[in-house]
Amino acid sequence: MRVAIGSDHGGFQLKELIKKELSGPELEFMDFGTHSTDSCDYPDIAFAVAEAVARGEFARGILICGTGIGMCIAANKVPGVRAALCHDVFSARATREHNDSNILTLGERVVGPGLAVMIVQTWLGTAFSGDERHKRRLAKIERYSVEGGN
Ligand code: RB5
Repeated sequence: MRVAIGSDHGGFQLKELIKKELSGPELEFMDFGTHSTDSCDYPDIAFAVAEAVARGEFARGILICGTGIGMCIAANKVPGVRAALCHDVFSARATREHNDSNILTLGERVVGPGLAVMIVQTWLGTAFSGDERHKRRLAKIERYSVEGGN
């Protein structure tokens, strides 16, 4: 699986750790930056990753900032993106099964490194359930984003 990953300065250390811990023959990360702890603007990274996912270049993306909130707000502005902020394993699994989320956001200042890696593993390893009720709900969200209403 090829995964787009990005962070601002507040998520840089966790981004590096996730790449180090999880890169392997079956998981390749494409790093959209940032590349240091120098201050930068999280929307720039969020839009680059989210647009690459929306174009279908990557099945999934991961975005990390201090809280995960700014990245989530920005990524969800890109049509076709379903970004989910998860700081527990239950949510990471549920958002894949129910929401078919294609971007995971994390807050480096909120969650410890061990739990963060477990959240990423769970989120990457869980498939969308495909249940009709979940498809119907996602279709309503998609329709709203395209037509502005249901
Ligand atoms: C940067 O200080 C911080 O605001 C950012 O990383 C993020 O938490 C925004 O939501």
